Amino acid sequence: MASQMSSAWAAVVVIVSSLLAVALSHDEGGGPSFGYTPGTPDGPENWGKLSPAYKACGDGKAQSPIDIVIANAVPNPNLDTLTRVYAPSNATLHNTGKDIVMSFEQGGEPVMPGSINVTTADGTVKEFKFKMIHWHVPGEHTVNGKRFPLELHMVHVDDQDHKAVIGILYEIGNPDPFYDQLTEKLRELKTTPTVAAGVVELKSLQKRTGSYFRYMGSLTTPPCTEKVMWNILGKGRELSQEQLQLITAPLPHQDNRPPQPLNARQVAFYNPPNTTISIQSLVLPP
Ligand SMILES: *[C@@H]1O[C@H](CO)[C@@H](O)[C@H](O)[C@H]1NC(C)=O
Ligand SMILES: *[C@@H]1O[C@H](CO)[C@@H](O)[C@H](O)[C@H]1NC(C)=O
Ligand SMILES: *[C@@H]1O[C@H](CO)[C@@H](O)[C@H](O)[C@H]1NC(C)=O
Repeated sequence: MASQMSSAWAAVVVIVSSLLAVALSHDEGGGPSFGYTPGTPDGPENWGKLSPAYKACGDGKAQSPIDIVIANAVPNPNLDTLTRVYAPSNATLHNTGKDIVMSFEQGGEPVMPGSINVTTADGTVKEFKFKMIHWHVPGEHTVNGKRFPLELHMVHVDDQDHKAVIGILYEIGNPDPFYDQLTEKLRELKTTPTVAAGVVELKSLQKRTGSYFRYMGSLTTPPCTEKVMWNILGKGRELSQEQLQLITAPLPHQDNRPPQPLNARQVAFYNPPNTTISIQSLVLPP
């Protein structure tokens, strides 16, 4: 009897975690499955046809990601440093089958373990709460056509569920201490869709931000909802090949949407006073 009970519970846990995984993979609302292989019926160029809810993926005019052309980015004197405060938080890693996601909860309830203040293009300061992290392999935003091996998206929301995303581009290099605390958990994610990661230190992700690129875009997964405020950090981070491998291994495929047309949009950039444009170090030889 006891073992019957526990297998029934195990089944419930499996169902609940796969429902959660589906909900997370589509970020908001449900919707049909989508793929990343170009030229296939559910590939990125066909997302807009998979469901009326995904319409923006096909005919939106302000989609993400984009290729950032440094020479065309316009300095905006109204922009200011991104201030970010992230506290340690109980986290869960999810392998949604589409991407790797980290969510935060305490006692079974979702929590927002930090906040950012961003200055909008007209100079108004807005506060957003830190909601979740996910990774794309390889990177989605390109810079002067260059693609990076990994891109981290830190998703922030305000009280009306507007989104501000901070995108971090990674190069292969020195190990990143942020991933050291996740080594075992990322390994487990290869065979288990949902892994409790315990308390995760997030402070290293809040390092002084310096320069960034700002533009208005969309979610990079269906339903490709627009009016997302993108902030791509001008200074990349490094991680080791082994760390990249840990993030890549749980997924059977790459999960990057190709760059979308810029259309009428402009990319702005912010550079702290008296510094050189650090994004140059991402694309130019030292
Ligand atoms: C931490 O997260 C795990 C997985 O979601 C959950 O089981 C556990 O209760 C959480 N711990 C606390 C203190 O909230
Ligand atoms: C954002 O601004 C508010 C109001 O000035 C302030 O209370 C809060 O501490 C700021 N948060 C961050 C992360 O700087
Ligand atoms: C930038 O440099 C100028 C000239 O050297 C100096 O007057 C100014 O205080 C500096 N600004 C900052 C924020 O350091």
